[in-house]
Amino acid sequence: MRHVPTLERLPACVTTITDDFSLSVIHGLSRVQKTLPCRFFYDARGSNLFEEITRLAEYYPTRTEIGILNGCAAEIVDGFSSGDVLLEFGSGSSLKTEILLDHIADRITYVPLDVSEAALADATARLGERYPELEIRPLVADFSSLTKLPNGFRDSRKTGFFPGSTIGNLAPNEAITLLSNFRKVLGKQGRLIIGVDLKKDPRVLVRAYNDASGVTAAFNLNLLARINRELAGTFDLTAFHHKAIYNPRVGRIEMHLVSDCMQDATAAGRSFHFNMGESIHTENSYKYTLAEFRELAEKAGWKANRVWTDDGEQFSVHELI
Ligand code: TRP
Repeated sequence: MRHVPTLERLPACVTTITDDFSLSVIHGLSRVQKTLPCRFFYDARGSNLFEEITRLAEYYPTRTEIGILNGCAAEIVDGFSSGDVLLEFGSGSSLKTEILLDHIADRITYVPLDVSEAALADATARLGERYPELEIRPLVADFSSLTKLPNGFRDSRKTGFFPGSTIGNLAPNEAITLLSNFRKVLGKQGRLIIGVDLKKDPRVLVRAYNDASGVTAAFNLNLLARINRELAGTFDLTAFHHKAIYNPRVGRIEMHLVSDCMQDATAAGRSFHFNMGESIHTENSYKYTLAEFRELAEKAGWKANRVWTDDGEQFSVHELI
């Protein structure tokens, strides 16, 4: 049996695993346009539903990105030397990472970084079996508030990995802040491999976020279910419906939960009023052209280097240096 590395935690001053669900809910639902922060999607049930989304016929990003990574892995890994560190921001199940690790497990250290301790433990155990020679240093941390790595990585060349177009879930100005933060964490020699969904026919986009079998709807509604479970909420899940629209002005998919009637709901000891048709804005997914994303990366201090796409130019993987 291989020894499974212990999970490493950063001191609270370096990263905070925000335990602020109730405050965020109260805050978000008190605004004129009600919102709920998307980071709360991913409880155990939400994470399972999301895994299901990634396997939907309509949800092209996951399989397209995997196809690109399979095609370009040999080129990506040609930049790795012995002793380098691969650091994945929000590693989750680390499934896509295997495409890279297949080439470099014998010579690098892998640092999966995630807020979910359970996901880290599972992924670390699986990767440990698959790559007995790989050094793994899992890190419990929130990539959005990460400013520093623990000691021991100072002198290694670091490559960040941020697949899944998670960057698109931030507004462009926030995306710039995050990318320049990644740049600080990865250091002078650092580079970043990042997956970015591309602009395309809005009908294809909307279908990807409003699938026929209703999995994305269940994923969105799970936010209200979670409020009911964890914050003594009284949301009637049958009185809200999932809506996904493409907003061409800002180039993003918006997900909403729309109230089907005039109603009140309680959560975290507060009452919230909903008019009929009023929505809670739960998520954005910004889409970029190749040129738009390269420009954004450069505003964050990176140099946009190589880029790989699929034949249909649906999705892109960028190398920033
Ligand atoms: N970042 C991905 C995207 O925007 C995955 C994702 C995040 C997602 N939240 C989602 C996909 C909600 C579907 C529904 O596509």
